[in-house]
Amino acid sequence: MARISLRQLLDHAAERHYGVPAFNINNMEQVLGIMAAAAATDSPVILQASRGARSYAGDVMLAKMIEGAEAMYPDIPICLHQDHGNDAGTCLSAIQHGFTSVMMDGSLRADAKTPADYEYNVSVTRHVTEMAHLVGVSVEGELGVLGSLETGKGEAEDGHGAEGALSHDQLLTDPDQAVAFVRETKVDALAVAMGTSHGAHKFSRKPDGAILALHVIRAIHEKMPALHMVMHGSSSVPQELQEEFNRFGGEMTQTWGVPLEEILTGIKYGVRKVNIDTDCRLAMAAAIRKVASTNKAEFDPRAFMKPAITALKDLCKARFEAFGTAGQAARIMPIPLSQMARHYAAGTYDPVVAVANAA
Ligand code: G3H
Ligand code: 13P
Ligand code: ZN
Repeated sequence: MARISLRQLLDHAAERHYGVPAFNINNMEQVLGIMAAAAATDSPVILQASRGARSYAGDVMLAKMIEGAEAMYPDIPICLHQDHGNDAGTCLSAIQHGFTSVMMDGSLRADAKTPADYEYNVSVTRHVTEMAHLVGVSVEGELGVLGSLETGKGEAEDGHGAEGALSHDQLLTDPDQAVAFVRETKVDALAVAMGTSHGAHKFSRKPDGAILALHVIRAIHEKMPALHMVMHGSSSVPQELQEEFNRFGGEMTQTWGVPLEEILTGIKYGVRKVNIDTDCRLAMAAAIRKVASTNKAEFDPRAFMKPAITALKDLCKARFEAFGTAGQAARIMPIPLSQMARHYAAGTYDPVVAVANAA
């Protein structure tokens, strides 16, 4: 099956009221685990690569791994997405390597650390959208800065994100500004800031509305029911995975992620792409730790990686099932990017704002 654009996949998800997890990949084992889960549940899949992933594996190796996945699983639509592109160059080189979707994260300057102002964000995102749409590739933008409402910081635990203190206003996407941003940039999906952050340490307690501001999602959805929203930092960091990781020598301090029921509420109000990396890392790392500490004589890397792939597969299956992605692959026929490009040129995908707010 051909690769699918993010736009087509999220349009389908909106039509049928489901969400799609976007799993980060860096290596063959992650691709194998995620694809096995997608095949087992008949789910379309978003595989996303960060700049770090691209430099870890190399663009050529990443591209060939995805070709391998397509050949192994011809019935599964695969969207290959650039996660947190920092400038137009990153987005365009991703497209050169077969990505069908790119994130232009203009909420930060090109150093991926300094919060950007609105004008910069609009101009860099619109620039990328104009080019990507010419070849039918989708674009995700971001408005508002990801970070913790508890600490007022960007929470760059995994080396990502804003540095320094952030104001409450920066940490929460403004719904009216979101409408203007989508109109001005014509992004296909919008990442919103509402208290989620990357990494394992998101919340110091089970989050409530004060630190996980789902009301932002609802407010944007009311103004733009047709907009596809993206929730970054959406790992749940399940208690049992923390315990498993620590049981075998890990040292993770107690933490809370985004509860699955909150993600489901988000999906009800227009969240269509749910970014998950930390949970995948934790599932694999816990499985690797288990082998390392229960069989100290083991030195065949496959003995470590096979249970890690299985643990990742189980996690991904659970997310596909929870978000309603399971069973949707067979219902989708990917539209070639050349045809997507014609649709963009014809204005088919121009932003739609709710009638009540359209004046
Ligand atoms: O955007 C955050 C993802 O977890 C990717 O992280 O840059 O370490 O690959 P990474
Ligand atoms: P987590 O760290 O919660 O898995 O978030 C990943 C992410 O948002 C990638 O863009
Ligand atoms: Zn992210």
